[in-house]
Amino acid sequence: IADIKGGSEEGLDRLGETLVVRGWVRTVRAQSSVTFIDVNDGSCLSNMQCVMASDTEGYDQVENGLISTGASVWIEGTVVSSQGSKQKIELKVQKLVVVGKSDPSFPIQKKRVSREFLRTKAHLRPRTNTFGAVSRVRNALAYATHKFFQENGFVWVSSPIITASDCEGAGEQFCVTTLIPNSNEGGESPVNAIPTTEAGSVDWSQDFFGKRAYLTVSGQLNGETYATALSDIYTFGPTFRAENSNTSRHLAEFWMIEPELAFADLDDDMACATAYLQYVVKYVLENCKEDMDLFNTWIEKGIINRLSDVVEKNFVQLTYTDAIELLLKAKKKFDFPVKWGCDLQSEHERYITEEAFGGCPVIIRDYPKDIKAFYMRQNDDGKTVAAMDMLVPRVGELIGGSQREERLEYLEERLDNLNLNKESFWWYLDLRRYGSVPHAGFGLGFERLVQFATGIDNIRDAIPFPRTPGSAEF
Ligand code: 4AD
Ligand code: MG
Repeated sequence: IADIKGGSEEGLDRLGETLVVRGWVRTVRAQSSVTFIDVNDGSCLSNMQCVMASDTEGYDQVENGLISTGASVWIEGTVVSSQGSKQKIELKVQKLVVVGKSDPSFPIQKKRVSREFLRTKAHLRPRTNTFGAVSRVRNALAYATHKFFQENGFVWVSSPIITASDCEGAGEQFCVTTLIPNSNEGGESPVNAIPTTEAGSVDWSQDFFGKRAYLTVSGQLNGETYATALSDIYTFGPTFRAENSNTSRHLAEFWMIEPELAFADLDDDMACATAYLQYVVKYVLENCKEDMDLFNTWIEKGIINRLSDVVEKNFVQLTYTDAIELLLKAKKKFDFPVKWGCDLQSEHERYITEEAFGGCPVIIRDYPKDIKAFYMRQNDDGKTVAAMDMLVPRVGELIGGSQREERLEYLEERLDNLNLNKESFWWYLDLRRYGSVPHAGFGLGFERLVQFATGIDNIRDAIPFPRTPGSAEF
């Protein structure tokens, strides 16, 4: 359907051609001598209106009620101009085959249904306008991500999903466990048994072939090893956080894009983050017009203008210390009081980007070292680190990044002070022993980018199959 521009004026030069449409029926309207069948194939938002006269081959299928919402169909027809107000062209059906009929219980009928309801139908929600559009924009953002980094000479590196290290040091990791064959049943099928000691407690030492292992929270440390060999690299893959937060911005499984720049400092890092965000936003504005119009009308009024500003304007930069000043002076009352040294809560982040700077993305830099991860480079003041977070309206923190501590003695001291096991980081420390370079990188939560670019307010609607506490169905 996208191939003939979804029935728009641009398809007019195809008048008279015979085409085949394969897709799913959205609506059926029968009139005395013709039936209108709207078909969508997911290639674009628009349906193809197929008009079937009662003397057409296969019309008995209409009469027998086989063509109902949700059914899959194969339709051959001629492109003709349309009298309807919604489209310029339509398909005059010559032959129709019902590939798979749809039971009348099909739960997504034409009336508008809530996104909460659709979350319980995650297997069928891609058949709706909104989720079709979100899926296509998500795809465009992924494509533009690779395009941006490839055009700028970054090498894509696959970081592992199973790992022994905890990059963020926050202990928010899922453990990997091995299924043990059920010896009583003849070893046919494994049972879901966690290895236990004789005393009955979980035997962690056995989890991953005799070693303890987790699902990765970030590919950064692995990315650093490749950046200190191949120069600029990026990772793009799934990451996992065992934080029990039920918010509209947190998932237990999310995709992260993590570039790592060699011979680079925090300024280079912020410049890269800004150029990247502007590039991908511009890409969807230019290449996903029909879907963006849907969001602009139904999801967030004015999103197209908001995003156009992001592409054109310079982002605000300020230090953490200045951000605290600004929050202390704010007339607004916050639930969490602010003082130097505190972590910024989402209410603070939203105030800064939405109210203090009128919807412009804001980069805050130089955070207190005590609230940031061990690998961040210490600033000369001894109190702060070369960290940066990019905050955007509606979403809050979209990007977290830093210049990395490339000096061996500083890094070792930091690990000691945090009581982290230096031995387990032997390979990471080696990077500082053999040809260390200043380097910096950031992580961008891909679903938060999808939220930002579509206006979808809940992160559960920005990923096909959301994983949140208590939900792993589908
Ligand atoms: O700020 P974070 O924790 O930073 C890191 O993981 C660094 N290792 C990144 C790096 O420097 N290479 O996470 C980075 C981003 C956040 O800014 C946020 O957009 C997203 O990942 N994120 C989440 N997205 C969805 N659900 C969650 N639970 C998320 N936690 C972080
Ligand atoms: Mg962060």
